[in-house]
Amino acid sequence: MVGLEKLFAECREVTDKALDELIPLSETEPKKLHEAIRWSIFAGGKRFRPMLVLAVGRIFGAEDKQLWRTAAAVEMIHTYSLIHDDLPAMDDDDLRRGRQTCHVKFDEATAILAGDCLQALAFQTIAEDESLAHSVRVKLISEIARAEGTPLGMVAGQYFDLEAEGQSISIQQLERIHHSKTGAMITVSAQAGAIIANASASDFQAITDYSVKLGLLFQITDDLLDITQPTEVLGKTAGKDLVAEKATYPSLYGLEEAQKLAEKVHAEACQELDKIEKDTEILRLLVDFILHRKA
Ligand code: IPE
Ligand code: IPE
Ligand code: MG
Ligand code: MG
Ligand code: MG
Repeated sequence: MVGLEKLFAECREVTDKALDELIPLSETEPKKLHEAIRWSIFAGGKRFRPMLVLAVGRIFGAEDKQLWRTAAAVEMIHTYSLIHDDLPAMDDDDLRRGRQTCHVKFDEATAILAGDCLQALAFQTIAEDESLAHSVRVKLISEIARAEGTPLGMVAGQYFDLEAEGQSISIQQLERIHHSKTGAMITVSAQAGAIIANASASDFQAITDYSVKLGLLFQITDDLLDITQPTEVLGKTAGKDLVAEKATYPSLYGLEEAQKLAEKVHAEACQELDKIEKDTEILRLLVDFILHRKA
């Protein structure tokens, strides 16, 4: 796990430094808006999506200076999705990353606007990244917008998730929710590393197949943790999915079966890595980490 711990530490440092440079200071007007953005983005968080950008990019030969802005950009979109996910109109949560959610600490309008800002800033960051060729910037913007939006991206997934509350849905529908609301942004983070490094078409495909499995695994374990871990460990309110009657893997399959499915998806993700003739050990460790994570 040493390699992974090193990647975690490096990624936190690189991403947080980039975010600090890219996001206006709290003293900048409108102050409350910038305070709210910084409140949510510097609250902690695993920085898992930036880690995928860095790990995949490095494997295929990209330099760190070409990766860090995109790593920060995917974290901005992710944090915006969390701020909006916690709003009263959505999951109505008051705890995130171990502190008050953005709308509780500030107010709803500020939280909505903080999310909007982060989204805009993410795309601006990539568009203005002078370490990348214009064609690479356009490709990244296109793929990330697709993963964030609709019909197969995060926003569509959030819609399906809310629509499924209290409903009995099929396994195919549940998979669609998980692939879109969570998987799409995880997949595009890995793909972004491969795009920046100009990986071959077959490597890009293998990274895509790997990260689709990883994204599904990520949300299955998120569903499991909501039941198995306490609020203090999660940094967000435990047991919320049951109360909100969310469609989750444990609610459809039961806890034990959902755990087994997580192990199956973990094995499938690892298999995809066998197709890549590079040292992908770190990507294997990342899947292990997601399967065994506690938060
Ligand atoms: C939580 O994501 C939301 C989901 C997509 C399940 P993370 O578990 O990556 O949250 P942070 O970034 O570590 O806070
Ligand atoms: C949210 O899924 C996925 C996002 C796009 C933010 P959840 O609603 O399960 O995430 P948590 O459990 O609140 O972090
Ligand atoms: Mg949600
Ligand atoms: Mg939620
Ligand atoms: Mg959840």
